[in-house]
Amino acid sequence: MDAYKEILSLIDQQEEWRGNCINMIASENIISPSVRRAVCSDFEHRYAEGILGGRDEKGIRIFNRFYQGTKFFDKVETLAMQLAEEIFNADHANVVPISGAIANLTVYYALVEYGSTIGGLSIPSGGHISHTHVSAAGVMGLREVPYPFNNEEMNIDVDKTIKLVAKEKPEIMILGGSLFLFPHPVEELREVADEIGAVIMYDGAHVLGLLAGGRFQDPLKEGADIMTSSTHKSFPGPQGGVVFCREEFSERIDNAAFPGLMSNHHLHHVAGFAVALAEMEKFGEDYADQIIKNSKALARALYDLGFNVLCEHKDFTESHQVAVDVSDIGGGERIASDLEKADIITNKNLLPWDDLERIRNPSGIRIGTSEITRIGMKESEMKEIAELMKRVAIDKEDPENVRKDVAELKGNFTGIHYCFD
Ligand SMILES: Cc1ncc(COP(=O)(O)O)c(C=O)c1O
Repeated sequence: MDAYKEILSLIDQQEEWRGNCINMIASENIISPSVRRAVCSDFEHRYAEGILGGRDEKGIRIFNRFYQGTKFFDKVETLAMQLAEEIFNADHANVVPISGAIANLTVYYALVEYGSTIGGLSIPSGGHISHTHVSAAGVMGLREVPYPFNNEEMNIDVDKTIKLVAKEKPEIMILGGSLFLFPHPVEELREVADEIGAVIMYDGAHVLGLLAGGRFQDPLKEGADIMTSSTHKSFPGPQGGVVFCREEFSERIDNAAFPGLMSNHHLHHVAGFAVALAEMEKFGEDYADQIIKNSKALARALYDLGFNVLCEHKDFTESHQVAVDVSDIGGGERIASDLEKADIITNKNLLPWDDLERIRNPSGIRIGTSEITRIGMKESEMKEIAELMKRVAIDKEDPENVRKDVAELKGNFTGIHYCFD
């Protein structure tokens, strides 16, 4: 009983606290009331194991389920797949994976043998753990080959990468990552992928919300064979995963998802994802535009106030992320935790020149603008946020003082935008 009360109290405390914070974790977002309705619906209680069983005479997908009771869910899953395929220009979408990391594992499981080689970014250069042997790729015993990275441009060094992959011949070439400021060279790497017979897998986990709005890049059109993603970072859906692919890979991906890696998928997630897709179909362009404007405005304001924001020569960023080197003003660990004391939530982040050993105290912080955009903030608020961050990180003012001003600013933004409600 005590634990019960404590848990409910912790939920209340979390909601009150994070409600007062300026939340800028680049992998987080908030869901709309309609998505919340879907996530808390009866679908949360149910099972729908099964596989696609072709299409009926009208072209509507038929599911072969192993459980009764799925007649409405079949329609929801069909709508989620259709919307996902339309919005992201994909032949096929599989909405079964329960997270972005599992979406990546689904692709490995579908396409390569145990012990194969994959190419991708190193973790300091922005690669995700699921692109490496320490995580999802490790489950398949995969060997990773890290691409050469251009630190100035904060992007893959195309010429050096072409030479490297021609020699190492990875079966999967991963593009996309977790520290992701500029579009990745999908078109530029297509030719070498064809030469070595590699599949290009674009991990769009971070930028899916921008892609939904037709911004940043169009990976499948530019030459990626497959795109994986989380559904809850810049894309404002519930937590989950998705795989998009060309038709030729669809059967293998579907079988890898079920019965390969998932037994029951999360029906409430699929319903919430479908609602968020419908929202992004209508509001995605405005949302993505404003995210990018906010990132650039925040980066510029921080830079003008004395922060070492990366890539000034490229207008800082084309995504929802801003990267700041804080090694001269205390390091990533100290700055992120001081900001947290002022209710400004960011994360410490390795930068490409950091050794992996520095993971606990890296040079950088990463800032994301998806959530603050969703609550309606625009360029003028970015200037205010930069000023609040300066007071903590550069002026070393007591975070408690700054906290009050953070709460005042946040108090003006209580709604959720770019959604139907
Ligand atoms: C590039 C990238 N891929 C995959 C993932 C894993 O996503 P999830 O947390 O949904 O498993 C992340 C998570 O941060 C990521 O940044």
